[in-house]
Amino acid sequence: MITSSEIRKKYVEFFVSKGHIEIPSASLIPENDPTVLFTTAGMHSLVPYLLGEPHPSGNRLTGVQKCIRTGDIDDVGDNRHLTFFEMLGNWSLGDYFKKEAIAWSWEFLTDEKWLGLDPKRIRVTVFAGDADAPQDGEAIKIWSEQFARSGIEAKINERIFPYGKKDNWWGPAGQTGPCGPDTEIYYDIAGYDDPKRHLGDGLREGDCQPSCSCGRYVEIWNNVFMQYGKTADGRFEPLKQRNVDTGMGLERIAMVMQGAKTVFETDLFSPIIEKIEEFSGKSYGNDFPRSSLPNNHTQRAMRIISDHIRAATFIMGDQRGVMPSNVEQGYVVRRLIRRAVQYGKKIGISGGFLGGLAETVIESYSSQYPELEVNSSRILNGLKAEEEKFAQTLERGLKEIGRKYGLYEFLKVEGEISGRDAFYYYESFGFPMEMTEEVTGRKVNREEWDAEMRRHQETSRAGADRKFGSGLADHSERVIRLHTATHLLHQALRQVLGNHVEQKGSNITAERLRFDFSHPEKMTEEQKKRVEDLVNGQIQAGLPVSFRMMDVDEARASGAIGLFADKYAELGNQVKVYTIGRSDDDYFSREICSGPHVKNTAEIGSFRLKKEEASSSGVRRIKAEIG
Ligand code: ALA
Repeated sequence: MITSSEIRKKYVEFFVSKGHIEIPSASLIPENDPTVLFTTAGMHSLVPYLLGEPHPSGNRLTGVQKCIRTGDIDDVGDNRHLTFFEMLGNWSLGDYFKKEAIAWSWEFLTDEKWLGLDPKRIRVTVFAGDADAPQDGEAIKIWSEQFARSGIEAKINERIFPYGKKDNWWGPAGQTGPCGPDTEIYYDIAGYDDPKRHLGDGLREGDCQPSCSCGRYVEIWNNVFMQYGKTADGRFEPLKQRNVDTGMGLERIAMVMQGAKTVFETDLFSPIIEKIEEFSGKSYGNDFPRSSLPNNHTQRAMRIISDHIRAATFIMGDQRGVMPSNVEQGYVVRRLIRRAVQYGKKIGISGGFLGGLAETVIESYSSQYPELEVNSSRILNGLKAEEEKFAQTLERGLKEIGRKYGLYEFLKVEGEISGRDAFYYYESFGFPMEMTEEVTGRKVNREEWDAEMRRHQETSRAGADRKFGSGLADHSERVIRLHTATHLLHQALRQVLGNHVEQKGSNITAERLRFDFSHPEKMTEEQKKRVEDLVNGQIQAGLPVSFRMMDVDEARASGAIGLFADKYAELGNQVKVYTIGRSDDDYFSREICSGPHVKNTAEIGSFRLKKEEASSSGVRRIKAEIG
């Protein structure tokens, strides 16, 4: 059986053999992109390059990216949906296009030297065309040629399925920006001996095709052809730089390659599931239903726990790790952990158990993601603290519910619990509806409960849509201006405080920049004023901003500051060096950075230092705004 680490390795090796350079996984927490909470796809950290900035490693890239998609949380438990997953990807930045991308997908999937999958089980979908853009006839033609290589006649609606924008179009995430048709590759996991797999969901045989949600066809790979730009007035114009952006879910391809019925029976999950079996004393079972959903509650709970603990471990253990809280990414971690605890209770696990599971996750994944090992105590302490906090909240909830319904008993008030109350217990104390029924001995009004849930989902979906787009277009102008202001601030701090100042962290939202730097003491009012004046001086001078590609040594020799050590050294050769100044010898700031930046500092307007405070030992934090 091929292991998932071997699949990762083979994928990268294949694309390296086609002239790609391997890039490391970016953080799960996007840097300088306020439009999204998490990295949802490999392309996320490549946005500036998809928009035309040259990438330090060239125009053919490949790699494995950690991703979080919280939008799928309610589907976790079926055969293929996850909140955390790894995405194998290859990218062409204005280089090759459909012909190579599709041919290489086919070669990698079907050639015996690589994955050697059965071509007869492959189906593909393509863009059907609409008023905005024509049918992707080019993709259909190239796919037909590939299928023909294996002696398969690729009939439309049998092998190649044209669908509309909802299924076969990617981006733009915001209102405007690059986007285009995609072609998705599906694998039929039913096998020829069991073509009726989907019938379990009440569908007729002819109904089942890749768009069917029964789980028979598993989407394993998406190839996006970014050839259009959506304009502010809603038109789709051909782009100058045409890109390819692909993503293959590692868990899904592992499922297919390992002959597993679901992603949870692959080697990526089995050590975690085994641990859950050990903690609960229950068996995961080997009774797998035909439909994509398990008919066994223990099995579903174990799948949800294993997914959530993996996601929480990766978010807390990330290079820019986030701990549970009530806001933004922290709220997501909190929700994942608490949901895992609730499902743990359902299968009889009491007491803290998530740390034990996280240890298994850390152990299985550290060779690919060393940050998990490095941050293991943060992860384990964070889980323990959150489990304890949740236990207290639950206790408080029990008391409140107990008081109210105890009194009702006493006064002989009868009747059911309103959906509103049940929802309040759920929101405030994390009580699932069934638990409220259990502790009160009363029924919850289901209709009202469902209406509350729907209302809540609509609100959170509206929020999620805003938060979980890929952020492609909304690398807003303001963020770019703040980014250039950060370079000015960094250099100004070095001039005022000394060259010991080094960047320790940077975070930009549409409202402000935040900059962490090494400095042993509080800045004086006078120093703050000098820094602010210095930055404003550079803005008023209207200095041009430009960049040049250099190798790391040349960049160092040219006097560039920036993060030499970790990120760039790994990439090997070329880095991008941004200079803010009039010429090569007369400049204010020179820094290694991937961009993007404004063309001229005058675009920043003005700069205000709002706050200077301690961040951690020996590290200060500045928050600043622009006008
Ligand atoms: N960005 C594309 C996806 O995530 C490849 O499906």
